[in-house]
Amino acid sequence: MTAIGCDHAALGLKTLVKEHLEKKGYEVKDFGCFETASVDYPDYAHKVAKAVVTGECQNGILICGTGIGMSMAANKVRGIRCAVCGDTFSARATREHNDANILALGERVVGPGLALDIVDTFLTTEFSGDARHVRRIAKIQEIEERER
Ligand code: RB5
Repeated sequence: MTAIGCDHAALGLKTLVKEHLEKKGYEVKDFGCFETASVDYPDYAHKVAKAVVTGECQNGILICGTGIGMSMAANKVRGIRCAVCGDTFSARATREHNDANILALGERVVGPGLALDIVDTFLTTEFSGDARHVRRIAKIQEIEERER
């Protein structure tokens, strides 16, 4: 199951991504928002991040105007590694190297075609499991513990 969430600036792209994934057979849990009325992106980032760290969802996609606010908020939740990506190279690398569990996108930054390619790349790329990447992720977790 993939969790998805957006703010008012990204409702169009969230709907497109959700329909695209469902057509491909993915199960998607939509945490909102559902209307174009102004909302606060941290509320949706938090819902999606919690769904991922509790194991309710395997991974997540968060979309706002830039992807930046969503990623900042999601990364405050322990265990979340959320990466804003504007290209497929980064989407592949953040799965292979960082084992990112949430992808953030900016509807005002990337066009719809590129956004779907980024999503597909993110969801189909496995973590490499290389020792150096495992060690570096463990260091991110150590920082989380030290700075609680
Ligand atoms: C909303 O105007 C905008 O600030 C938000 O979607 C996002 O880009 C924040 O990082």
